[in-house]
Amino acid sequence: MKTLDPLLEFLSIPSVSTDPARKEEVRRAAFWLKERLQALGFAAELHETPLHPILYAERVVDEGAPTVLVYGHYDVQPEDPLELWETPPFSPVVRDGRIYARGASDDKGQLWAHVAALEGLTARTNVKFLVEGEEEIGSPHLLPFVRQNREKLRADVVLVSDGAMFAPETPTLTYGLRGLCYLEVRLKGARRDLHSGAFGGVAPNPIQALGWLLARLKDEGTGKVQIPGFYEKVRPVSEEEKRLWPSLDEEALKGELGVEVLPGEEGYTPLERLWARPTLDPNGVWGGYQGEGSKTVIPKEAGMKLSMRLVPDQDPEEVADRTEAYLEEILPPGYRLEVRRLHGGKPVLTDPFSPPMRLMARALAEVWGRPPVYAREGGTIPVVAELQEALGAPIVLLGLGLNDDNLHAPNEKFDLINLEKGIAAIRRFHELLAEEGLQ
Ligand code: BES
Ligand code: MN
Ligand code: MN
Repeated sequence: MKTLDPLLEFLSIPSVSTDPARKEEVRRAAFWLKERLQALGFAAELHETPLHPILYAERVVDEGAPTVLVYGHYDVQPEDPLELWETPPFSPVVRDGRIYARGASDDKGQLWAHVAALEGLTARTNVKFLVEGEEEIGSPHLLPFVRQNREKLRADVVLVSDGAMFAPETPTLTYGLRGLCYLEVRLKGARRDLHSGAFGGVAPNPIQALGWLLARLKDEGTGKVQIPGFYEKVRPVSEEEKRLWPSLDEEALKGELGVEVLPGEEGYTPLERLWARPTLDPNGVWGGYQGEGSKTVIPKEAGMKLSMRLVPDQDPEEVADRTEAYLEEILPPGYRLEVRRLHGGKPVLTDPFSPPMRLMARALAEVWGRPPVYAREGGTIPVVAELQEALGAPIVLLGLGLNDDNLHAPNEKFDLINLEKGIAAIRRFHELLAEEGLQ
């Protein structure tokens, strides 16, 4: 394989989009990639936004040839907790056939596969890159950019590698992503924190009220979300689609998670619950005294972060409206509620057998020596629905990561074998596309 040095350099830039102290580093990552693409003959520009720049690059070899738009993100999640990393997150190392670094799998390594695939490639395809530095914070500036730049971004196929393979050595074509509605909920009681003896018995306690609200959001017995209308727009999965799905090794999953049961919505298999059913999960709760020992206090405020994963045809804004209305309705007297919408993303479903998906399936089969499996994903990539709507081009989601890559966690890694095969498959895809076009 070609040298890994450039990727290691890319990974050493701490482009953490959510951290204001890293703003310059995020920019440096964009600039670094811009220069690499220029070296490959691309015309490249950084489009400034109020936060992190969008990188757009294109290499047109032939006006009549098919055009591929590659999407990826150069920003990464924060590295904390730092002490759990075996080697520092921004000092990438190769160990046991894997690259360890923040962003190795999500998404710098996977994005790099598309860049490396072009080196020395003679296939005549036009290539455009759309790479953002705000994916991990919900793509606030890329969404309007896509809407305003349809002509520039026009392509015959949109190619995205920012996901995972269904299992090791199992090439995977993904045709669905869940959406996201992420809310921060704050409950307020008294004007100030209160002595729990001097005021307990007359004071509202926001932590208690938060517990009541939480308990009424999801039914313990059925696992059903209780927000009225929550499931109204959920598209059912056909039997035909389910037959397409690979089978999930539930015992292996339990083993990996260290749990004895896989709790979730009654009446659906774990795979359905991961791919085709919406969820509601508190992702953080706080309130009152969190330090060592005890402090007798009734806090004036408590809160939680709520993540709801959505499926077609649910809409994040509509779900946020419904959630807010329901919380207001069940809020006990004596409390005030504040809801902030932190970010969202629309769910996506694409045609698993569109012409470019068929070409990619052939490329994957040649490289891995076995045909791909067809999967949906539980995660979210906010811009994909926007690209689908605005450009109308078929989408190919080619996840090259693995479920044990430790995305967003300490010791993130990317297996070199998947990088290598990913590069080969992407090259082959360009060749097939140039030879046969899309029909
Ligand atoms: N690459 C992930 C999404 C993903 C994860 C796809 C696993 C397939 C499998 C992406 O970078 C991500 O983390 N997205 C966020 C979106 C959010 C910040 C708006 C997510 O899903 O939480
Ligand atoms: Mn990602
Ligand atoms: Mn991510």
